[in-house]
Amino acid sequence: MAKLLIAYYTRSGNTKKMAEEVATGAREASGVQVELMPVDQVSPDDLLSFDGILMGSPVYYGTMAAELKSLIDRSVKHHGKLAGKVGGAFATSGGPGGGNETTVLDIVKAMLVHGMIVQGDAEGDHYGPIAVGAPDARSQKECRRFGRRMAELSANVAG
Ligand SMILES: Cc1cc2nc3c(=O)[nH]c(=O)nc-3n(C[C@H](O)[C@H](O)[C@H](O)COP(=O)(O)O)c2cc1C
Repeated sequence: MAKLLIAYYTRSGNTKKMAEEVATGAREASGVQVELMPVDQVSPDDLLSFDGILMGSPVYYGTMAAELKSLIDRSVKHHGKLAGKVGGAFATSGGPGGGNETTVLDIVKAMLVHGMIVQGDAEGDHYGPIAVGAPDARSQKECRRFGRRMAELSANVAG
């Protein structure tokens, strides 16, 4: 069975709500075990055991929270070993032009450096789900769609 990690950082709960919607969508896919974890409970070693790794963050000054960046930076000890795993990101900002897409792309850039597989979306939020504040109905739908697609891709990649 493929394993999918959804790791998130949150202070006021908005990213957690997105992560829960992503998990709901991911659990719709068959043959995938989904784990939802706050990023402070995830070690770089944990990343090795997953076929897909999704990361969510609030926007802090146009980019990801330091807590998430810290996990990514510490993952250098496994540089090269995450290659071929599925990656994806989601983010919530305070305002509509507040940097949610730039934050998603910053996380995705790090995943690409690791050699991970990142799939865009031609129909939904192209880079990964975004929200302004707490996820509204539109954003919830995008999160579930994203979770389902990433879980299906992880199952395919894991074979
Ligand atoms: C230190 C800090 C920096 C922030 N920087 C931005 C920012 O650059 N742009 C923005 O739109 N919102 C910014 N915000 C607002 C948060 O991104 C927003 O409230 C988010 O929904 C919080 O997510 P959370 O509930 O998961 O913590 C910032 C908040 C904090 C605490």
